[in-house]
Amino acid sequence: MVDVLVTGGAGFIGSNFVRYALATHADWRITTLDKLTYAGRRENLHDVMDNPRHAFVHGDIGDAAVSGPLVEKAAIVVHFAAETHVDRSILAAGEFIRTDVEGTFVLLEAARRAAGLTRFVQISTDEVYGSVASGASRETDELKPRNPYSASKAGADRLAYSYWATYDVPVIVTRASNNYGPYQFPEKVIPLFVTNAIDDIPVPLYGDGRNVRDWLHVDDHCRAIDLLIEQGTSGEVYNIGGGNDVMNVDLTHRILDGLRKPASLIKPVADRPGHDRRYCVDTTKLRGLGWQPQVPFEDGLRDTIEWYRRNEWWWRPIKENDPAFKAYYQAQYGRTT
Ligand code: NAD
Ligand code: TYD
Repeated sequence: MVDVLVTGGAGFIGSNFVRYALATHADWRITTLDKLTYAGRRENLHDVMDNPRHAFVHGDIGDAAVSGPLVEKAAIVVHFAAETHVDRSILAAGEFIRTDVEGTFVLLEAARRAAGLTRFVQISTDEVYGSVASGASRETDELKPRNPYSASKAGADRLAYSYWATYDVPVIVTRASNNYGPYQFPEKVIPLFVTNAIDDIPVPLYGDGRNVRDWLHVDDHCRAIDLLIEQGTSGEVYNIGGGNDVMNVDLTHRILDGLRKPASLIKPVADRPGHDRRYCVDTTKLRGLGWQPQVPFEDGLRDTIEWYRRNEWWWRPIKENDPAFKAYYQAQYGRTT
């Protein structure tokens, strides 16, 4: 059996990856390490909690006494755990530095001692490149992060690389574009807009709505990580992008159309400070290994909308019963509904 440690496995991408990996690799024994912050939820793993090849550990990556032994016995570490929401990083950056930078440092120190470790996948983001006015970021491009989230991720990205260059830790860095799919916390634009629109609550579109993101279905992301675990080269960085560059205003119309809701639900609101205009990654390197996205955006978005429509059990408790979510919504949008 192959021991795989997934940090942040109770979050959006991590939980999709755990589910995917259990189904794909009969010889993997997965341990999820997750602090269960506001974004991490046992519900995200509800169907794999009892799987005999999966163990769940409730703990902080930054707690060396907990995370160290788990890293030391792993053959593969896939490190998703992070604070991830740009708007929250603008409201308060401390947890981003503690988890994304210092927490990654704690894992990397343990990785130096991990005798059987063959892969340490540092899940970075295309946001480390900063805003790209035209063209597509290549892995060799300069990093110019412009908000506390992307800056903390850039710190972790380069720290992980340095542990390969200095200590020969078998690190691979992945920089994926915006993910979408089931189990995404309803603070990010797609689940927020879908769930607001279901309830006829206005959708707050930042600025002129002309910012561009490249949407990657989470299943395509999982397939890319899996391929890189098998075929990537240590010390290398790999972009992962869906090739679906969409302006926010167009995305919003597609969501409203998909739910048969009126465009009058769009509420233009003040822009995010330092709002990156556009992200776009060149995925030639990853495609050279045989990967290509399999989920057309139209299908993926339709299925994602349908998932939120059918799984109110999952998101209603967050939006309606969680005082922390209401407090965040109030702080971010100046309203409680
Ligand atoms: P998420 O916010 O849904 O999940 C993060 C998970 O990490 C949660 O389960 C949370 O409880 C856990 N966590 C946070 N701090 C922790 C700590 N100190 N110790 C242990 N667990 C902790 O995030 P996501 O969208 O699934 O993103 C996962 C990773 O992918 C992150 O590293 C993020 O930077 C990266 N990424 C995300 C996207 C995207 O579009 N969502 C795109 C590219 C890269
Ligand atoms: P988000 O999902 O927060 O991802 P990121 O900022 O990491 O790309 O936002 C995606 C885009 O949607 C981004 O350009 C900001 C915009 N946005 C809004 O217009 N309104 C919102 O309420 C949110 C959360 C995001």
